[in-house]
Amino acid sequence: MKTKPKIVVTRKIPLAVADVLEKNFNVAYNHTDVPMTDDELSTALKTADGLLCTVSDQISTRLIQIPGKRVSIISNFGVGVSNIDIKAAEKENLVVTNTPNVLTEATAETALFLILAVSRKTTFLEGKLRKKLWQGFSIVEDLGVSLHGKTLGIVGMGRIGKATARKVKSSLGMKIVFYNRSIVNNIDSETKQISSLEKLMQISDVVSIHAPGGGDQPIIQDKHILKMKETAFIINTARGDVIDQSALINALENGQIAGAGLDVFEDEPIVPDQLLTLKNVTLLPHIGSATLQTREAMGFLAVKNLIAHFNNEEYPSRVV
Ligand code: DGY
Repeated sequence: MKTKPKIVVTRKIPLAVADVLEKNFNVAYNHTDVPMTDDELSTALKTADGLLCTVSDQISTRLIQIPGKRVSIISNFGVGVSNIDIKAAEKENLVVTNTPNVLTEATAETALFLILAVSRKTTFLEGKLRKKLWQGFSIVEDLGVSLHGKTLGIVGMGRIGKATARKVKSSLGMKIVFYNRSIVNNIDSETKQISSLEKLMQISDVVSIHAPGGGDQPIIQDKHILKMKETAFIINTARGDVIDQSALINALENGQIAGAGLDVFEDEPIVPDQLLTLKNVTLLPHIGSATLQTREAMGFLAVKNLIAHFNNEEYPSRVV
């Protein structure tokens, strides 16, 4: 009988996904659910045929080039692959796959939630209530801003950007503009593509980032934040490295912008103390895709990619 390929799974995965995985592979789990160390990952790369990893695993050039590597596929549980050195993987003929599409709606829902939370200061106000500091209804205290008729600027009009635009337009009645490096067609006539990022930052009341991380420098830098209105909010459900985090903290501390809703951070799970003490932010622990249905769908897709690889079939979603 043909022996099943060995897969190392770096974090806990949903039970239904584990069932399918075990039917097809010889599986080794990390039962602790604590991210594996560099040494543990290098052992995995040398002893398994495939790695099922996620955003918390840094698959560096050194790991990808490790002498004696046996792994021939890295199946990433996540759409973003900024945790993997993709150029190094390509050079080494190491297949990398990801899990697009299935997390689009959940991530867009998180962006919508953050837009509402920061514009109505809900994190700060709920904190006040929980500390028993609420003195009762007030006509003039703790006011937020209305969003109806204001402008949402989307940076990166891919699947998640489009889903966020759709949800925000239909539920909040905001106007939508977007910046995308290439021309995006099939967008409704009221949604405008803006040709420069600076311009988009200038005209938006809320900016929401939906572009991949892993670039050589952040997409949103100090010079872009400087263009924003003092009353504007910035939302990030993409990756921590898409915004210059120190520049953002400065802008929030100096009242250069009105607030931020962040689901992702530069050096997760570290969240700078300055952010934790700011009143005008809502901070989430990277939960953009964190619904059971979505995590199961991501897991099934990650497993389908592994099955395709070892059966020499077409990959549902190959990155390199
Ligand atoms: C993704 O899929 O990229 C999410 O951030 C979870 O990793």
